[in-house]
Amino acid sequence: MSERALLTAEEKQMIVRSYRLIAPISETVGDLFYRRLFETQPQYRTLFPDDMGKQKRKLMAMLAFIAKCLDWAEGQWRQDVRPDEDLFLVVLALGRRHHVLYKIPDDSYDTVRASLLWALEQGLGEAFTKDFRRAWDKLYNVLATSMQLGAKSSRIKAEFGYVE
Ligand code: HEM
Repeated sequence: MSERALLTAEEKQMIVRSYRLIAPISETVGDLFYRRLFETQPQYRTLFPDDMGKQKRKLMAMLAFIAKCLDWAEGQWRQDVRPDEDLFLVVLALGRRHHVLYKIPDDSYDTVRASLLWALEQGLGEAFTKDFRRAWDKLYNVLATSMQLGAKSSRIKAEFGYVE
């Protein structure tokens, strides 16, 4: 990942600010997101469990965690971060689960991006400014790239006979 691909401090703040608007309507955003995803990609429905209520809550909890992790002033960085508090490690493991357990198609990241941005736009209306959209688009790039890296690491382990 090149340095320009990482989020700037300003973009992180945009995610944090826009997430404050998303949090109170997170259930609606979750509904909009999965409705849109299954309308545009009905073949993905069988990848998910029947109970989508739980799934929605997990997704929105993950977005809340991500926004919280991005809300760190530079001076607050410390060395003793627990693995479950470390955004990069959490996202690598998330990508590994998506590949090994949920067996998502490699090319699904772009469709999911489009559904997520659409849901945020519908949910927030005009409050979802062009700058917010750009910041979320870039955040999605960082997440998808890291998740795919996690998936790749499990492929490498499989090739060398490592059993997960
Ligand atoms: C930035 C991208 C994504 C994020 C943040 C995300 C987040 C999550 C989270 C938090 C879960 C709950 C389970 C867990 O923690 O392991 C989950 C499950 C799942 N996601 Fe994603 N996801 C993303 C991309 C995708 C993509 C591209 C697909 C492809 C269709 C997908 C399909 C699924 C499926 C099928 C499940 C699981 C269901 C089960 O419980 O069996 N996700 N995702």
